[in-house]
Amino acid sequence: MNIDIQPFIDRYRAADGNIITLLQDIQHECGYIPEDVVFALSDALDIPASSFFGVATFYTQFHLHPRGKTIVTACCGTACHVKGAERIIQAAERELGVTEEHPTSEDGQFTLERVACLGTCSLAPVVLLNGEVHAKMSPDKLRREILRFKEAIHD
Ligand code: FES
Repeated sequence: MNIDIQPFIDRYRAADGNIITLLQDIQHECGYIPEDVVFALSDALDIPASSFFGVATFYTQFHLHPRGKTIVTACCGTACHVKGAERIIQAAERELGVTEEHPTSEDGQFTLERVACLGTCSLAPVVLLNGEVHAKMSPDKLRREILRFKEAIHD
């Protein structure tokens, strides 16, 4: 990603920051944590790149790859699994043309994420659409929701 890293350095120094605040700043600006930005900041600040990646991979809030504008978060916890989460995920993968290895759609509009229990098991199976809870989801219901988002993109 072709981006000026100086503002990150300035904010990091001004706030007497740490790696977490620096990663948050990068993600806020870039939408994710680009590898080349990490390496450039590692050189400039004399912090090992492994320290950045160690933190970035530990916390689920950080993303090392570009994400879509719409995030479909499917719960794979036990309650959701028992109630058919896998069929819902397969429907989403077909609808979006994504896989677990390539979770973001070609057009960059959608990312399908899998998470462990969202803490709302009584609503299982649960899917979040851009953070909004959708309870008692089914493959058909999710396909309709995804279509609604797709139509909104083209409006
Ligand atoms: S297992 Fe899905 S919300 Fe708990």
